[in-house]
Order: sequence, then C-alpha cells, then structure tokens
Amino acid sequence: MRVDGKRVAIVGATGAVGTEMISVLHRRAFPLSGLELFASERSAERKLDTPFGTLTVKPFTLEAAQACDVVLLAVSGDFAKKHARALGEKGAVVIDNSSAFRYDPDVPLVVPEINGRLARGQRLIANPNCTTAVLVMALNPLYAAFGLEKVIVSSYQATSGAGAAAVEELKRETANWLAGREVGHEHFVHPIPFNVIPHIDTFQDNGYTREEMKVVWETRKILDVPNLPVSCTAVRIPTIRAHAEAVTIETAKPVDPAVARQILSEAPGVRLIDDPAANAYPMPLTASGAYDVEVGRIRQNLIFGERGLDFFVCGDQLLKGAALNAVQIAEVAAA
Ligand SMILES: NC(=O)c1ccc[n+]([C@@H]2O[C@H](COP(=O)([O-])OP(=O)(O)OC[C@H]3O[C@@H](n4cnc5c(N)ncnc54)[C@H](OP(=O)(O)O)[C@@H]3O)[C@@H](O)[C@H]2O)c1
Repeated sequence: MRVDGKRVAIVGATGAVGTEMISVLHRRAFPLSGLELFASERSAERKLDTPFGTLTVKPFTLEAAQACDVVLLAVSGDFAKKHARALGEKGAVVIDNSSAFRYDPDVPLVVPEINGRLARGQRLIANPNCTTAVLVMALNPLYAAFGLEKVIVSSYQATSGAGAAAVEELKRETANWLAGREVGHEHFVHPIPFNVIPHIDTFQDNGYTREEMKVVWETRKILDVPNLPVSCTAVRIPTIRAHAEAVTIETAKPVDPAVARQILSEAPGVRLIDDPAANAYPMPLTASGAYDVEVGRIRQNLIFGERGLDFFVCGDQLLKGAALNAVQIAEVAAA
C-alpha cells in the first residue's frame, strides 16, 4: 500500500457492494495510505480476507469515517440521508451508492466515462442505480452519434442487486426446491428459484415500479436530456450477478447497425460481443466479474426502421453498477 495516497473508508464493507469495493481499489491500484472498513455493530471485529491482507471490520462511527479523505458509502438510503453530508464536513469526498441524493439537483450523478467532469471539486457525489449505469454505457455513444428520441428497456436483473443476503436466499431456496422441500422467500416478494418476478422496489401511482422510474430519472440526468422519453420494465431473474437489458431506441438521425457496432466497439468501458453466427452475445456468465459492459445483438428495429435500433447489454452491476463506478468517481474527485 502506498503511503502518499488517500485514506479511504468503506461503509458497508461486509455487503455485496462493499466487498467488491475492496477488490476494485486493489485491482485499480488506487493510491491508498489507509483503508478503514466499517459496517454495523453486527459485524464488529469481523475479519475479512482481502487482497490487502486480513482486515478487521469496525462498527461505524461518524468521527472515525470523517477522518478519511474518501468515504465510499455502500449502505441503505436512510443511512446515507442521516450521515452523508456530515461525513463530508471535515473535507472528505463522499460517494454514495444509494438513491438518497441521486435526484438532488445540487448533487452530481456521475458515470465517469460520460460526465466525470461533474465530480471534480465536489464533496458529495451520487453513484447511479445499477441498471441505469449499465444502460447508459451503451446508450451514450449512440446518443452522441445519432441523437435519441425514445428509449425502451426491459431488464433481467440478478439477485445480488438486492444485496448479499438475497444471493443466499437464491442458493438456499434453490436447494430446497431441488430437494422437494418447501420454498420460502424473504428478500423477494415471491420465491425466486425457477421464476422471474416483474416487481423490483415499490409500485408507484403510474403503475411503474420505483426501480423502473429510477432508470427513467437517472438516464435523463446522466445524459443531461431532461425530457427524454424513457420507459422500463424491470424484472428479477434467478441469476447471481450481472444485469442484462433488452434495449430499443428511436434515434434522431438514421442509424446503420454496422456503424453503431463500430462506434460501440470503440467506446470506453464497452465490450462489443456481437457474432450471432458464433453464438456470441452478452450474457451474465461472461459479464460477471468484468469491468466492461457487454453489448451485442445489434440490429435495425422493425418498428422504427432506419431510425431504430435494438440491442442487448449485460454488465456486472456490482462493478460498473456500483463498486467500480464509485472507485472511478473517487479517482476523479480526489485527484
Ligand atoms: N447490490 C447491488 O447490485 C447494488 C448496486 C448499486 C447500488 N446498490 C446500493 O448500494 C447499497 C448497498 O447495497 P448492498 O447490495 O451491498 O447491500 P448489502 O449486501 O445488504 O450490504 C449492506 C451493508 O450495509 C451495512 N450496514 C447495515 N446497517 C448498517 C449500519 N447501521 N451501520 C453501518 N453499516 C451498516 C451492512 O453491514 P452488516 O454486515 O454489519 O449488516 C452491510 O455491510 C444500497 O444502498 C444499494 O441500494 C447496490
């Protein structure tokens, strides 16, 4: 660990996102002078095997986390609302993974490949919803080249999007199903094994879920197109990690799939996998653990014609949708 770097705190270090943050800091050789791991009282003194060696988790205190240069929050929105602003009072840069500040006009919502400049000099920065982060990685290069009139998305979201305990529920209840035992559910509103559930977060008055509206609100904010028509159907599926999304766009200018393919092949943070003849396209099994968001199945849309495109994206939502994006923001904000 370098001694001339930043002192970083991860709050929620035992969770699905927090544990990934530790390994991303290591893999990207983030300039660290110290790493403090915080969680709840439940995890006090828990030892974590990390690429930095065995580290001890401490119960969160405002004073201890405030003393760091960068605070990565991987906790609930309620926790973030209570502590995020106070954490920055002594100069720390706070990067929040919850939805608590994403719609606050004074808080930038950042995907560094798209609007990283907004993070510079900020004390509090919001990390986007995981489905949105994966989507905009493919959407932004197409928007820049062809303009956007409409965006229609259907998601296939992994269980780890609901946290570490939700993955344990998938494994436990799948074992129960296979053994012929009763299948229960706690984190999901219905049993998740061998099921798909078109319900993530709470239903809103307009019939959409809050998860679906997050995709609408956050895509508009990140692309800086306040009235962009976006519609999403968000669905939970029994995979462990990496969210997949079927996307249809209507563009402002005519879009040639071959040109779109070329643009996406050159976009930072995107990996083009689009060779149907070789059965090559984005999938959770190949996207899991990868930093780049996979894009493929690119084709002219039958309804919008020459101004329409269909494609499929898949990205590791614990990485680009959370831990990786947060560390990339820290690299910009704390530079
Ligand atoms: N999972 C994803 O794909 C994803 C993607 C983007 C954003 N997010 C957001 O990231 C945040 C974390 O999600 P997650 O999936 O990592 O959840 P998780 O697996 O349930 O982890 C939650 C973490 O919060 C800690 N925590 C709970 N109460 C605490 C308290 N009072 N003080 C300190 N720490 C406390 C837990 O510690 P204990 O172990 O001690 O309970 C645990 O480390 C959420 O806001 C979520 O919406 C998640």
